[in-house]
Amino acid sequence: MQAAARAYTNIALIKYWGKKDEQLILPMNSSLSLTLNAFYTETRVTLQQSLSCDEIIMDGKVLSGHSAEKIIRFMNQVRDQSGNRTYALIVTNNHVPVASGFASSASGFAALAASAARAYGLDCSGVALSRLARRGSGSASRSIYGGFVKWMKGTKDEDSYAVPIDPANWGIRLVVVAVNRQKKKISSRLGMKRTVQTSPFYPIWMKEAEKDLGRMEQAIHHHDLEMIGEIAEANALKMHATMLAATPPFTYWEEGTLTVMRRAAHLREQGIPCYFTIDAGPNVKLICSVEHVDQILDDLSDFFPLEALITAEPGPGVQFLEDP
Ligand code: DP6
Repeated sequence: MQAAARAYTNIALIKYWGKKDEQLILPMNSSLSLTLNAFYTETRVTLQQSLSCDEIIMDGKVLSGHSAEKIIRFMNQVRDQSGNRTYALIVTNNHVPVASGFASSASGFAALAASAARAYGLDCSGVALSRLARRGSGSASRSIYGGFVKWMKGTKDEDSYAVPIDPANWGIRLVVVAVNRQKKKISSRLGMKRTVQTSPFYPIWMKEAEKDLGRMEQAIHHHDLEMIGEIAEANALKMHATMLAATPPFTYWEEGTLTVMRRAAHLREQGIPCYFTIDAGPNVKLICSVEHVDQILDDLSDFFPLEALITAEPGPGVQFLEDP
């Protein structure tokens, strides 16, 4: 009884920011992302009668502490759903470009959901995997699919899952700028909780996010890169504005973050369509078209070392891997 799966990370163009149910991980707003081919996680789950608790090996090291607890809580849900109480050996490896410092909970929980669902004999349909991955980390619900993916917020566990909306095979690229590789001080989980509880801008965010989502779907339908970029950039800025108004206020931006934001504006002045989006961290992702990647890299290389610049293409959905 073992199974392995690979899942790729995704970057939200319309952000998920805020939960209405922390236990089930039901979001306040629907979101939309692009799955990327540059970062992925491979996870193998092997049921072992001899174990008295789950054993987790991440990137070659035994995992303990908070990250291990999150995974064990997730595995307990899998055991509850399957009725099989056996513990598992979980071996997981993150494949991220050297020096980028990205470890993604989206690819991690999507790969774990798929491998655990198969190993424990649960439903492995896309809807079931997306719902299960969501219980580990909200953004993981979207990494079940490739290309552009929409996570419909739903109202309960059964109807909150992601659906693929476009394969994104028409030349869109993301240039990831690794501004800082340190672990962030405020996790997205904590950041969104504080924002929901204290930011007076939060109700406005919810309304704006739904509006932005509708417009983004139109832009994707028309393969309109400039409109996609403009909406994504504005949506990211609105999300980050909610944090500045929280109590106590916080921001994930650093000097390097602002540098990249200014370069995007500068590149646009030069006639190069280039737009930014920023998650709960200082790193910036630039949205552009394949024909402008080299000019963008050239511009940024005056400010950042080349290994901090990673070009990503749209990536595929979750894949089951063959037995070794
Ligand atoms: C800013 O999915 O990491 O990246 O559900 O608490 O695990 P949890 O949060 P997580 O939050 C992602 C927040 C974001 C926006 C997004 O990916 O949509």
